[in-house]
Amino acid sequence: MSKVTVVGAGNVGATAANVIALREIADEVVMIDIKEGVSEGKAMDMMQTANLLDMNTRICGVTNNYEATAGSDVVVITSGIPRKPGMTREELIGVNAGIVKQVTESVLAHSPNAIIVCVSNPMDTMTYLIHKISGLPKNRIIGMGGALDSSRFKYYLSKALDANPNEIEGFVIGGHGDTTMIPMKRYAAYRGIPASTLLPAETLDKVAADTMVGGATLTKLLGTSAWYAPGAATAEVVEAILHDQKCMIPCSALLEGEYGEKDLCIGVPCILGKNGIEKIVEIDLNEEEKALFAKSAEAVHKTNAALPL
Ligand code: NAI
Ligand code: 2OP
Repeated sequence: MSKVTVVGAGNVGATAANVIALREIADEVVMIDIKEGVSEGKAMDMMQTANLLDMNTRICGVTNNYEATAGSDVVVITSGIPRKPGMTREELIGVNAGIVKQVTESVLAHSPNAIIVCVSNPMDTMTYLIHKISGLPKNRIIGMGGALDSSRFKYYLSKALDANPNEIEGFVIGGHGDTTMIPMKRYAAYRGIPASTLLPAETLDKVAADTMVGGATLTKLLGTSAWYAPGAATAEVVEAILHDQKCMIPCSALLEGEYGEKDLCIGVPCILGKNGIEKIVEIDLNEEEKALFAKSAEAVHKTNAALPL
């Protein structure tokens, strides 16, 4: 029996729980929130789709009752405030650090062996905070951002190429921020054909620029941050862990010398399996990419310095 807890039954948390359940990634999903009745209501609503959609995962919702989360294999943390139009992810640090700290301590008290997937923003810094306060081995703390940013990169590539998004390869490394993420243009491909041979350089640059502000574009349209792709990207990460898929997914991982960086969490290609981050893959970066990565790491370090540690 596999069990996933999703902390925060808001837009992203509830969507992640729903995708995990619909795809039957786990046997049981528990949503927990501080808002009275919200988790319970959303869980009941989702369970009323079970017979319509032939779903066998059991979903339940609780308010502040961490006992119900006991024995979880994976805990997804989405609790916190999202950004409003014009806000950066970094501006959320004060409020979200307090929430993420309290939530991490509460879930680990009941699920000491869980793998934690951090979604709350500023995600790289919140992932680092979980390392600092939990003392868990580094493979068991994963920041979700690169899975989403890569999906957005593939979306914009598919539009530029007028192609099926499922035939596009592409990934994004670096921080999960409008100016810190690095869409890897050089490795983007359409059915193995380098995108750089199919698109003019200016178009590929525009695809990368649109990817970087992909979250902000949606926040402007929606009045709050997006949830469908963030929820689905979170479910992709949970699936790779629970089904021991050994998939390569860019995630925020604690670096200890990889890519020339240490003492921070930042997006790098990771092999995900039953032990969480089973390997950090060090791909070749050219001089321009190395400089972008160093600049991104510097910005993440700067945000981390604002943590109340
Ligand atoms: P939301 O406001 O819809 O949901 C957040 C939920 O957290 C609310 O239901 C709230 O009651 C709950 N919450 C607050 N404090 C809590 C606590 N102490 N314990 C349990 N629950 C608590 O926000 P949304 O849109 O779901 O976003 C959640 C977080 O995820 C935000 O920080 C947002 O910036 C981040 N995010 C990260 C992405 C990524 O790729 N890493 C993508 C999209 C959003
Ligand atoms: C997003 O990328 C704001 O992190 C959130 O949609």
